[in-house]
Amino acid sequence: MAQGSALGVDLGGTNLRVCLVDLHGDASYHAVQTKTLIPPALMVSHEATRLFDFIAEQVETLIKIHRPACLSGVETEVFSLGLTFSFPVYQNAIDSGILLRWTKGFDIPSVIGQDVCQLLQHQVDLRNLPVKVTALVNDAAGTIMSRAYSLPANQTRTSIGTIFGTGTNGVYLEKLLKISKPLDGRFDDSTGQMFISIEWGSFDNDLSVLPNTEYDVQVNEASINPGNQMFEKRVSGMFLGELLRTALVELHNDPEVRLFHRPDKSTSGEGIDKTSLHTRWAVDSSILSIAESDVTEDLAMLRQKIVDVFAISSSLVSINDARVVKVVAHAIGKRAARLGGMALGAVVLKTEQLATPKTFRRNECYPDMEGDAPFNPLDVTDQLLEGDTARYPILSASDGPCLVDVGVDGSVAEFYPRFEMYMREALRAVEGIGLDGEKRIRMGLAKDGSSIGAAIIALIATQA
Ligand code: GLC
Repeated sequence: MAQGSALGVDLGGTNLRVCLVDLHGDASYHAVQTKTLIPPALMVSHEATRLFDFIAEQVETLIKIHRPACLSGVETEVFSLGLTFSFPVYQNAIDSGILLRWTKGFDIPSVIGQDVCQLLQHQVDLRNLPVKVTALVNDAAGTIMSRAYSLPANQTRTSIGTIFGTGTNGVYLEKLLKISKPLDGRFDDSTGQMFISIEWGSFDNDLSVLPNTEYDVQVNEASINPGNQMFEKRVSGMFLGELLRTALVELHNDPEVRLFHRPDKSTSGEGIDKTSLHTRWAVDSSILSIAESDVTEDLAMLRQKIVDVFAISSSLVSINDARVVKVVAHAIGKRAARLGGMALGAVVLKTEQLATPKTFRRNECYPDMEGDAPFNPLDVTDQLLEGDTARYPILSASDGPCLVDVGVDGSVAEFYPRFEMYMREALRAVEGIGLDGEKRIRMGLAKDGSSIGAAIIALIATQA
């Protein structure tokens, strides 16, 4: 099992996370982490260097605080750095990848077509930091790794990673034999498997099956990438607040509904036109979580949140208004979770993990088997060990009947109440999964999995 210190950088949402992880080699680790809001001017810019210099600066700050001796030259440790870069890349080696396109509100055209690891290494070198970028990782892959690392070795290994945060995506382990696309570049084929980043955020961009309400249409048209990431625009945190805001504006303007109007006045709520209700992208998805969790009679918490988020007077927010917000927010949130469940279900079916009775390797499922090789999350093989000819469907007491282990990370999955429950409802409805299959899917939050997982991968890549 990987052991040592490494850096993880997570770029892909509104915040930049940098962590320094000490892996103890026994499923435990100690991590220190900084989280910094990415200045919007760096997310949409004509200069590539500014964003990467900002990242290098945050890395320098973390080392300065926690390992100052490495900067003063007293210690000579060179840190491996795993870069979680959660955008579509063409990855041709563990430590190199070309950006294909930006998503989630980022737009720095000059980075497209460039190797993002080199861009970061260049800025790190300009600052003379003892850091080598050794791995490029998608956040969903980082989630698999951090969850796999922290699960006891006798439990079913994590084979799918999902992100429901600012964006959404899934990564799964695929057999090399099943990959028909030509693979070029440098890669280690010794495990016979490879992570596949699905980029399901851009599933069904031509909208042949996805639901498309008038609010979806408006949000898509107002986005910086109309026609792209159409699945993500219905599922991820970056868009859920804006979908809600768009729907509420319609209800505010609708003379039949008169949302956020004073009941006694015939004119609209005065002063409301310049509030966040009328400002694009001004509303983040946290209001949907409050709407879902407030089940009180007077919806006091939700009403307060509406006042704060939309910056409107509390006299304009009646209990009935809050009820309307709750219903709309629930529809948006539940739809997101169900679509997420559908995407996960598709991966479970594709990987046939429920279809075939599971065969376990000895060290995967026998808690008290001695003499097995130490657990390494990358060392996954379908080869049975000699003598393991029988099938052992469910042997580990700690595992129960779970055969598919899914790592989950991201603010929507973490904070939206009942997100997993609604995902599970959808999983049960998927043909080929149903009630029995859904029960055999275990989901576990891998909090900050993307940055921690990147550090794990960076270390494994260096030690390999
Ligand atoms: C976007 C990115 C994808 C990432 C996901 C979650 O969809 O394109 O690479 O994994 O967001 O952050």
